[in-house]
Amino acid sequence: MIHALNNVPKIVYGFGAVAQAGSEIVRLGGSRVFIVTDPGIAALGLLEPLKSSLVEAGLAFEVFDKAELEPSTSSIHVCADAAKAFKADCVVGIGGGSSLDTAKAALVMLSNEGSIEDYFGMQMVKNPCLPALYVPTAAGTGSEVTSISVLGDPKSGAKFGVVSDYMYASVVLLDPDLTIGLPPHITAMTGLDAFVHAMESFVGLASTPFTDAYNIQAMKLIAANLRKAYANGDNKEARAAMLYAATLAGMGFSQTQNGIIHAVGTNLPVSCKVPHGLAMAALAPMGMSFNCIAAPEKYAQIAEILGVEAGGTALDAARKGIDAMYALLSDVGIVPGLKAYNVPREALEGTAERAAKAKRLMGNNPRKATAKQILVLLEAHY
Ligand SMILES: [Fe+2]
Repeated sequence: MIHALNNVPKIVYGFGAVAQAGSEIVRLGGSRVFIVTDPGIAALGLLEPLKSSLVEAGLAFEVFDKAELEPSTSSIHVCADAAKAFKADCVVGIGGGSSLDTAKAALVMLSNEGSIEDYFGMQMVKNPCLPALYVPTAAGTGSEVTSISVLGDPKSGAKFGVVSDYMYASVVLLDPDLTIGLPPHITAMTGLDAFVHAMESFVGLASTPFTDAYNIQAMKLIAANLRKAYANGDNKEARAAMLYAATLAGMGFSQTQNGIIHAVGTNLPVSCKVPHGLAMAALAPMGMSFNCIAAPEKYAQIAEILGVEAGGTALDAARKGIDAMYALLSDVGIVPGLKAYNVPREALEGTAERAAKAKRLMGNNPRKATAKQILVLLEAHY
């Protein structure tokens, strides 16, 4: 088997790391910096240390603070047009996954013709991108180190991924200071999204010893720190560990893609507006229970990471791991299943059909699944 390991060339990690933005952009040859973020990040004042660093380095910049939560394709064109009008030669994405995904997709449009829809799928982007620097403000999506931007198509309501090796950042700044103010429920759902990334990549058909290394470490850090970060957001040690974990998980799943939890969770009806991380968290036990017979040894390892004591067969341990996941969800205030999030029972069939067709995700899932099987599963975990 031949496989590639792709990563961003440079990560700068530490409390206050965002102050390195200016010098990193100068090193990359940038002079006109287009900052992509969302209105919430701007309002919280999280842009200030970034702006100070750019001013100190003598760089011109413009802020685009209209990144949408779960970005639509049309929002990408608005963002890219603004960057072109500013004559940007460098893009900085700062915020949660939606801001970073907006920055990444807009970046594609700065060096490629047509519309972003032309680049849906794997490795469809034709031309290399401008230098880009990403700064996450939550420990969750890992978008800062992945080569994917997930967008909603307003015409079909479906979610699509633009995946290209050209979309890797030139530099990532990981500054746990920026995550300190995240409220507990956001900490919980983003942290569990990161755990699901690591888990789905770890058990996936495309996993390798390289990705196992990232994913095992990511799951260990989350299992040991998510409850602490949820219970006390000011716990710097826990915040620092969670940011490492989310990025490690991103480095893992960027090589492999995810699995059934993401296939279902990203195909819930758009009208239900279930936040991505919350959907991943609520569906995590469902994915574990469906998949564990396909990869019991790996699920037994996950169980051990979640605190299950060794003993019995691998499958016994794997099943205890599902209970451990339920306990983790309960401790961080997340109700499993879809009923609690106003997903109507009638929507399950369509969700199952779309999930079964999500080849990028289901192609990596260790257990094959028909739409009918997924529907039965969703009914059982509703
Ligand atoms: Fe995710």
